[in-house]
Amino acid sequence: MSASSTQITIEPLGRTFGAAIGNVDLSRALDDVTFAEIEAAFAKWSVIVFRDQKITPDDQVRFARRFGDLEINAFEKHALEGYSGVLKISNIVEDGKPLGYADAGSFWHTDMSYTKTPPRLTMLYALEVPLNADGTPKGDTWFASAVDAYDALDDATKRTIDGRTATHFFGAKKRGVKKPVQVTQEQLDKNPPVDHPIARTHPVSDRKAIYVTADECTGISGLPETEALRLLKQLSDHVVKPEFQYHHKWQVGDVLMWDNCAVQHVVHRDYDFPPDRRMMHRVTVNGSVPF
Ligand code: SIN
Repeated sequence: MSASSTQITIEPLGRTFGAAIGNVDLSRALDDVTFAEIEAAFAKWSVIVFRDQKITPDDQVRFARRFGDLEINAFEKHALEGYSGVLKISNIVEDGKPLGYADAGSFWHTDMSYTKTPPRLTMLYALEVPLNADGTPKGDTWFASAVDAYDALDDATKRTIDGRTATHFFGAKKRGVKKPVQVTQEQLDKNPPVDHPIARTHPVSDRKAIYVTADECTGISGLPETEALRLLKQLSDHVVKPEFQYHHKWQVGDVLMWDNCAVQHVVHRDYDFPPDRRMMHRVTVNGSVPF
């Protein structure tokens, strides 16, 4: 653990990415120096978590807005009342009504890549975390480093994807999902297919990341469909190899943020309601056109 010139501490969690940031109280407005250190830690570690936080939706929005404007999600019907930018992610059903969006993160993806300017970051605040009988958490979020995965590609594959784009589509058939979420015509109209570079450059670190997922990409520029789907599957399978992964074990009070330009994620669905209760408040912060 290393102390900074202010008070933040950084404890690495994964092999090459993921870190716990200490000595930060997100219920208070942060001074500029502390925020700059957090921003730098985020660019370096891609997934950062602040443990033992007790924050209100206003606190979460205030902190997230230091990074940029909030996005409104395609599933905004699950937004917290009075907070269009805060989405409730939950499997809890009360009086027959879901308390939040239950199916978020059920396949490997990077958030809202089907938009022209996908969000730079996503932040979850853990309010309820289901537990196993031995007290260990259920519902880990698994992350995979798409930058480590790019670095590990052989030169021939790097040459093949260099300069090519892939098509991302909100309505893509989710091959890896048992019970796909029903999407509406309005959501499809708002989110037409969009092309992004297969190897995107990180806006801060300049490192390249593989920016395709098997379940949200439908084609590759200049390649026939069969060849494109084969390459998309090969690249997507490569990104999520165990050696590129960090699994986050949630604690109530965690505020965790991930960098959508650098990692992909999926939630490990080893929990079910009832009796398991999982509740997260999620915000996403806008990004720029991938290049
Ligand atoms: C998400 O993909 O936004 C949700 C991930 C999670 O609930 O762990």
